[in-house]
Amino acid sequence: MEGAGASGLSEENAFAARLFNGLPDRYDLLAEVLSLGQNRRWRHQLVERIAAAAPKRVLDVATGTAGVAIALARRTNAEITGVDLSAAMLEQGRERVLGAGVDDRIRLDQGRAEQLPYDDGSFDAVAFTYLLRYVPDPAAALAELARVLRIGGVLAGLDFAVPSHPFWCAVWWAYTRLGLPLAGALLGGRAWYDVGRFLGPNISNYGKEWPVVRLREAWRAAGLVEVEARSMSLGGGLLMWGRRGA
Ligand SMILES: C[S@@+](CC[C@H](N)C(=O)[O-])C[C@H]1O[C@@H](n2cnc3c(N)ncnc32)[C@H](O)[C@@H]1O
Repeated sequence: MEGAGASGLSEENAFAARLFNGLPDRYDLLAEVLSLGQNRRWRHQLVERIAAAAPKRVLDVATGTAGVAIALARRTNAEITGVDLSAAMLEQGRERVLGAGVDDRIRLDQGRAEQLPYDDGSFDAVAFTYLLRYVPDPAAALAELARVLRIGGVLAGLDFAVPSHPFWCAVWWAYTRLGLPLAGALLGGRAWYDVGRFLGPNISNYGKEWPVVRLREAWRAAGLVEVEARSMSLGGGLLMWGRRGA
């Protein structure tokens, strides 16, 4: 596999696995607190996009501790499959799925977004959250997500973004460079301090390299049509969705 080591993992995969294997215990609480409550709102928008298509089979990629998968199970009647690179995040996810009483409708698999272990067109809808910043080639990952989506099915993805208004961009910069590492350290210890330090520059670099206009092109090149993007929370979040064309 190009760009991947003997383990089958790329450098980016190995980095993500190391980063997230240390986080699952407090992930759900800290994801809400450190996003200042925005994660829940954004996730709700993503789930509504998927639910509107009344899917029967849904894939949630980079499912982590299965928060999106559980929300999808509550909001739809679909059978949900969650897939993630990190065994530790999935373990926590399985506990959460059991606790939520939706284990009969959610299955969690370990796997890479770049090489999904599913047949072409297996799903009516595919969701992904906070994924593309962790893959070596976001355009190739999008093409792989589109591959497992049936023709006419919905793809919806969510990620952090950098506000474009100079004032809000300055506030965002101060929060991500100072507030986030400090709050991470106080609430979650060393592992969350490291995440806090990593996230701001990671989101900034990704935003520079993959502005919305380039992301739209990548979605279209992956075979998606009717591609839409919605900026949320003063530009701090970005939701994109589209349908797989014929
Ligand atoms: C910030 S967490 C988001 C988890 C979940 N989507 C949520 O919103 O709570 C990012 C997740 O992406 C997973 N991940 C990173 N790179 C991946 C890849 N190449 N394939 C599958 N999962 C990946 C990580 O293991 C981690 O669980």
